[in-house]
Amino acid sequence: QRPALRPLSCPGTVAADLRREEQPSGSTETGSEDKSSKKRFSEVQKERREQAQRTVLIHCPNKISEKKFLKYLSQHGPINNHFFYESFGLYAVVEFCQKESIHSLQNGTHTPSMVTEAAIPFRSRFFNLKPKNPSNQTSERSCIQSSNQLPPSSKKLFELLCYAESIDDQLNTLLKEFQLTEENTRLRYLTCSLIEDIAAAYFPDCTVRPFGSSVNTFGKLGCDLDMFLDLDEIGKISTHKNIGNFLMEFQVKNVPSERIATQKILSVIGECLDHFGPGCVGVQKILNARCPLVRFSHQASGFQCDLTTNNRIALKSSELLYMYGALDSRVRALVFSVRCWARAHSLTTSIPGAWITNFSLTVMVIFFLQQRSPPILPTLDSLKILADAGDKCIIEGNNCTFVRDLNKIKPSENTETLELLLKEFFEYFGNFAFNKNSINIRQGREQNKPDSSPLHIQNPFETSLNISKNVSQSQLQKFVDLARESAWILQEKDKDRPSPSSNQPWGLAALLLPSVANMKSLAKKKNKRPASERIKSLLDSIKSNSTENSTSTNGK
Ligand code: GTP
Ligand code: MG
Repeated sequence: QRPALRPLSCPGTVAADLRREEQPSGSTETGSEDKSSKKRFSEVQKERREQAQRTVLIHCPNKISEKKFLKYLSQHGPINNHFFYESFGLYAVVEFCQKESIHSLQNGTHTPSMVTEAAIPFRSRFFNLKPKNPSNQTSERSCIQSSNQLPPSSKKLFELLCYAESIDDQLNTLLKEFQLTEENTRLRYLTCSLIEDIAAAYFPDCTVRPFGSSVNTFGKLGCDLDMFLDLDEIGKISTHKNIGNFLMEFQVKNVPSERIATQKILSVIGECLDHFGPGCVGVQKILNARCPLVRFSHQASGFQCDLTTNNRIALKSSELLYMYGALDSRVRALVFSVRCWARAHSLTTSIPGAWITNFSLTVMVIFFLQQRSPPILPTLDSLKILADAGDKCIIEGNNCTFVRDLNKIKPSENTETLELLLKEFFEYFGNFAFNKNSINIRQGREQNKPDSSPLHIQNPFETSLNISKNVSQSQLQKFVDLARESAWILQEKDKDRPSPSSNQPWGLAALLLPSVANMKSLAKKKNKRPASERIKSLLDSIKSNSTENSTSTNGK
């Protein structure tokens, strides 16, 4: 179960500004967008982090007067922003104007005394608010709005898609419904900040940064929260007071490898989260994985968290995807739809295995957009050429340099519609020579496959690696079959689009119907019914589906 979230008030703050920056959703007709206000990834991260440090999380009584709540908290200092959400109870996220207010609030807070259990006296920024006199407050709950943080139900999504005016409109609607909200983004940074407080008990100058889809602009409501425990600041040589003939080093414990150091650190932090972390449950230490991690649920926020360290390249990949997502508004709309399509047909799952991942799918969309004429996205090599000295970045011997200032990249002159791009995406990958060629966003063109893995997508920064090494031949085949079928359906549907009043799934909605995949494999098993027949029964099933839906809606 994921929590519910709804904004209550954030007028005229940095929030609105950042929302614009992080979630570009302008015109989809052309690639031309106003880049003058686009912030660098590092700027967004810095602002969000600082904002999170001034923020607290409060579990509230179910019946609460918002006015009294804010008045009570304001005694510790002015409040910049707040919102409520529901997740097995009512929670408030409160951002103070100044960090000092948090100390004041902590100083006025006590550790609860238990009757049958004992409390670990850890003073975090996660509080429990209790009414002094519960009976007085019962009638005082003002209308605190809180709504579901989950993506829309399939039913709601299908309704929205059916009422859309065009396929372009459908892709933009899907993006709008699934993308992370401002409040969800705040909660993600706040959760990292709360975990940082715990890790700081051991490493006082550490930073816990979100990465992956929480920050790369491709995050969907309900996606996991990838965290990176950054200990690099600690090791940096201070430039101050470093004159004279000597160099001072810390006495440290040495271990045989970087990997063992990572495992030891994560093991201890994992224990710490398990024993002392308020709201951290189900802590699992997965230290033997290729990239060791600690997985846990942060109960109050509802996020499934993956904490890693020594994983700087993944952070750089997130920055690269952020750049690509911000360069042209069609990118995110297309990626969201392709990801939803893949999920609807079980091409992706939340369990690791022989499946394609969202990360790979995103790279495939980027590659496809590099192939358009004129290209919609630049190659990674061309972003490297645009880089200046400050952009230089070498991680573990890998050159990860690319330009970070979005304003230096010329917008694309390509004006293709989303509808065309979606159709062409399916056609392109439905006919791609996966047996011979590798996908390479660095050079922006197909390369000979260096090994025999069914799907080869070059890791953009560790170029000798394949990000889809795990994908099996049968999963790739399923992807290809579905892509071909989807291209075909889009083509066919063009010809006889149902009238808006018929409430029939069409365009993107028809592509998301799970029955498309099932019917295809069923048809195969039944020794190939003709395609026309398959499509006819698909349409029939859509029809009966929508009749059922409209009946139950009317019935309510
Ligand atoms: P979600 O499915 O929404 O969680 O997408 P995600 O992009 O967050 O994917 P995931 O949580 O699996 O991984 C987090 C980040 O780790 C990705 O965004 C990538 O930067 C990186 N990553 C994931 N898988 C790979 C991989 O196979 N190779 C490399 N080099 N990086 C990966
Ligand atoms: Mg993720």
